[in-house]
Amino acid sequence: MAEQNIVLLGAPGAGKGTQAKMLSDELGVPHISTGDILRDAVAEGTELGAEAKGYMDRGELVPDDLVIAIACERLAQPDCRPGFVLDGFPRTVPQAEALGEAMDDLDREDLIVINLVVPEDEIVRRLSGRRLCRKCEGIFHIDWEGVEDGGTCPKPDCDGELYQRSDDRPEAIRERLEVYRSQTEPLIDYYRGRGTLVDVSGEGNPEEIIGPVLDVVRNRG
Ligand code: AP5
Repeated sequence: MAEQNIVLLGAPGAGKGTQAKMLSDELGVPHISTGDILRDAVAEGTELGAEAKGYMDRGELVPDDLVIAIACERLAQPDCRPGFVLDGFPRTVPQAEALGEAMDDLDREDLIVINLVVPEDEIVRRLSGRRLCRKCEGIFHIDWEGVEDGGTCPKPDCDGELYQRSDDRPEAIRERLEVYRSQTEPLIDYYRGRGTLVDVSGEGNPEEIIGPVLDVVRNRG
């Protein structure tokens, strides 16, 4: 079977994490989120976490050399051999170039790049209402999943505490969108020019979006 080497592009809050979890469950390939890896490092108080925390809290990007090292090391693990879902990496042109080189070095097949397209007013609404579970790492929204600030996870078999990400405050959201426009949006042309990018609308229920996303993977992968 062809490798399923998937990259999810899209603005902060476009639903990359939500779709990546669903894709990973459906295809049986690992979900790799550089944001989750960095947040775990911050929570564990590692050297990487100490270096990354300030950038993340302000909504800025962590320096390329740090993130490239993390992502490339993870992609070389044996569980990534059948494929992977990359969420939040690459985010700059140097990161995309490093990913291309890593894929060549690892003798891997082509990337399938899916760009989730969501209007900006919807993005702001999604990010400001997002809550996460400390235990199962589920992603929820206060407006449409009936969860409350400071409440517990709504999943039947989980009682984890819900929390708001430090970069989901209004000033950090504004900075993240600005950083996205200046540093990450150019990747759309980068991958389109290589013929590997497909746009998918990120509007609608997550369950409605996963169908077109899977169609892209199955038609290209
Ligand atoms: P990261 O964790 O990657 O954050 P992000 O890209 O800003 O993306 P988000 O996680 O905020 O959004 P998402 O698209 O995954 O949406 P989600 O599914 O959660 O990065 C955080 C920080 O880490 C960066 O700012 C940077 O500092 C650093 N970093 C990470 N990677 C880096 C890199 N490569 N280089 C440098 N620095 C890096 O959904 C959002 C909300 O909407 C949720 O509440 C969800 O329930 C809801 N929702 C999802 N889908 C739908 C839908 N279809 N309809 C309605 N609501 C929905």
